[in-house]
Amino acid sequence: MDKKKENISIGFVPTMGALHQGHISLISKSKTDNLLTVCSIFVNPTQFNNPDDFKKYPITIESDIEILEAAGCDILFLPQREEVYPPGFIKTHYELGGLENILEGSYRQGHFQGVCLVVERLLNIIPCDILYLGQKDYQQCMIIEKMTQLRNINCSIKISPTIREKDGLAMSSRNSRLSNSERTAATIIYQALIYMKSNLKNKSLDDLKNNAYQMLEESGFEVDYIDITDQHLGSVENLNSSNTLVGLIAATINSIRLIDNMILTNIDE
Ligand code: PAF
Repeated sequence: MDKKKENISIGFVPTMGALHQGHISLISKSKTDNLLTVCSIFVNPTQFNNPDDFKKYPITIESDIEILEAAGCDILFLPQREEVYPPGFIKTHYELGGLENILEGSYRQGHFQGVCLVVERLLNIIPCDILYLGQKDYQQCMIIEKMTQLRNINCSIKISPTIREKDGLAMSSRNSRLSNSERTAATIIYQALIYMKSNLKNKSLDDLKNNAYQMLEESGFEVDYIDITDQHLGSVENLNSSNTLVGLIAATINSIRLIDNMILTNIDE
């Protein structure tokens, strides 16, 4: 199909399945903006640094299809591994600079190379006008933006706010692996972000991070990182170093690793 000739705009929502309201909000945005909305479901092996995490990634294709139908998604791309990575497929290495080695990158070796590989491949197969991503994966959004620039891919990127459960827990496919007690404990991640946001004016940078750290540990989480950065994920020396501050957390409970982030302040506040 020559979509330019036919003047069709295509919105694309890449996913790894186990769909939830966060994905649906991206589908809805795409439906508002475009004539055609495509969603892909592919649990991409190249972005998992931990084989166990890959093995345990939730797969719920039947209910995903129902969810996509109910959301009015036009096309589901559900490829086999060989379709995405055909025999002889040569991996590209992306020059992502420091961005791939900080935060998530420092705990998940090669993760962002794998994300870039699959997203570029998917964008080759699905020539979209707008790619829809969720702010929950803040660093991933920045990495994918950089990859599309590096590879001169002609699609714009729209980033949508994180969708949360009633108690604040960011929606994530991994939440389905939490037991009842872990699920209850997991709201602490949101509470720690809110704590940092609400105390920006009366605590130091170190106090905010240390206290948030303690909150998570007391709830049974092992913390990978708690950081406060500028909007480009650059480090800040103090809370006045940048007009926009972002709080980012990654923490694990019983081998289930959750991440979340929040804009703590910005120029309009
Ligand atoms: O965020 C995800 O679900 C994945 O990293 C993505 C963007 C679909 C690539 O596999």
